[in-house]
Amino acid sequence: MRFLALEKLINLHDGYRKTVKIDSLEVLIVQEAGEVFIVQSRCPHQGQHLEQGLVQEGSIHCPWHHFVFDLATGVHQGGLCDALATYAPIFDGNVLGIMIND
Ligand code: FES
Repeated sequence: MRFLALEKLINLHDGYRKTVKIDSLEVLIVQEAGEVFIVQSRCPHQGQHLEQGLVQEGSIHCPWHHFVFDLATGVHQGGLCDALATYAPIFDGNVLGIMIND
């Protein structure tokens, strides 16, 4: 496993949303109420981008068909859809990243 740096901590703030693509990996970083979440950037329903999704009470609402996913677990509310992949945020010095398998 190796550390993959995604963003400088100084850039994070509540309301922060950013899609980051590195090689074949594309993730969405979300900060809300001081908590950082990192999830796959595209909705598991039909693959649409989630960056514009409404974030509320630890969940993200896909703007396309309004499926709701828990940002911490990735689980779809209602269980009708596959879960979002989630990544544990790793804070290393002044950088946010994730651990990935090579
Ligand atoms: S693409 Fe997200 S709910 Fe359909």
